[in-house]
Amino acid sequence: MQVGIDKMHFATSHLYVDMAELADARQQAPDKYLIGIGQSQMAVIPPSQDTVTLAANAAYPMLTAEDIAAIDLVVVATESGIDNSKAAAIYVAKLLGLSKRARTIEMKEACYAATAGLQLAADHIRVHPTKKALVIGSDIARYGLNSAGEPTQGGGAVAMLVSADPQILVLNDDSVVLSDDVMDFWRPLYHTEALVDGKYSSNIYIDYFQDVFQAYLKEQSADLADFAALTFHLPYTKMGLKALRSVLPMATTDQQTTLLAHFEHARRFSRQVGNLYTGSLYLGLLSLLVSDPDLKAGDLIGLFSYGSGAEGEFYTGRLQPNYQRGLDLELPQRLARRQRVNVAEYEALFNHQLQWIADDQQLDYQNDPQRFVLTGQVNEQRQ
Ligand code: CAA
Repeated sequence: MQVGIDKMHFATSHLYVDMAELADARQQAPDKYLIGIGQSQMAVIPPSQDTVTLAANAAYPMLTAEDIAAIDLVVVATESGIDNSKAAAIYVAKLLGLSKRARTIEMKEACYAATAGLQLAADHIRVHPTKKALVIGSDIARYGLNSAGEPTQGGGAVAMLVSADPQILVLNDDSVVLSDDVMDFWRPLYHTEALVDGKYSSNIYIDYFQDVFQAYLKEQSADLADFAALTFHLPYTKMGLKALRSVLPMATTDQQTTLLAHFEHARRFSRQVGNLYTGSLYLGLLSLLVSDPDLKAGDLIGLFSYGSGAEGEFYTGRLQPNYQRGLDLELPQRLARRQRVNVAEYEALFNHQLQWIADDQQLDYQNDPQRFVLTGQVNEQRQ
């Protein structure tokens, strides 16, 4: 029996800031952000969206009544959740009208946890092949205004339906994992912004990729030429490019050209949204599959997942004949319809976003076009 990703869908906010404009405001050369970091636009998350509403907005459009009846496991992976106790997945299951018999849990290991959720879901479906599992990576990436990490913020959620005989990607049972205690990026409970040793974190990312990728090649007796494309966690899109470049010396000139061309498709949407933390690798996969005309059924796709702290995993999936049917094909149009805010508006929304919401206070949600919005708080319960 084959198990894997049957459907994928993405949600972000309806607002973005232009990175050249942000670079100007921070007295940086625009090309530092556009080329050096590899970001053109960055999602700006208004107070009316949090990781729960983003997750529900990502999953809702792709689920049929049949899916809803079959889902018995819901995993929301996040490192920017709304509660230290209650799982985001419980709110999401309610918003989506899922069965009360479904297991609902939240998972955390920085940007890596959606991969842990996906592997858990795949194993669950291997044991219960008539069921389906919903895995969502949902995050809002915050480093702070005027910080070095500021151009690598963003936010959004990627929802994936895991099933037997999936439409999109069969997951191969071939993961190589590396985890160790590393202080490259963390966020103590009392901080609303991440603490990060930026250059160190980028170096650890490459070290982890090299470790798990080389171990994979050895364990599987595989070769770089076996892959149609490699996809990466994209905290900023230049990071994935650096990882890809680190293995290109193993490739022929023709293979290098092909892998680099696929990578440009894989980073297209992340360039316009920024970091999603848990969802970033999967937005890269979605971007590749939606944008790249040169992929075909049977292609082997490599996936590198990285979460600071640190945990890395490399695994592969086999592209299925009708993969386009499971994808969020309207995504390019939705991104193009977003509304641009200027730097002053972005700063105001950033400062307002995580503020304590007084009881009975209504948030300004009327202009938010998403299906699910946060409207305020009553008795310290989010509405
Ligand atoms: N034209 C073109 N390129 C330019 C340029 C210009 N005018 N000016 C600078 N650049 C290039 C630099 O040469 C550099 O390129 P390389 O990395 O290839 O050398 C790039 O732009 C960035 O410049 P700096 O290194 O000077 O940038 P910085 O010190 O301001 O910060 C950063 C960069 C460290 C990534 C910072 O944004 C940061 O801390 N980000 C958050 C941490 C992060 O994303 N880490 C990634 C790994 S951790 C992870 O993956 C988990 C996660 O999601 C957080």
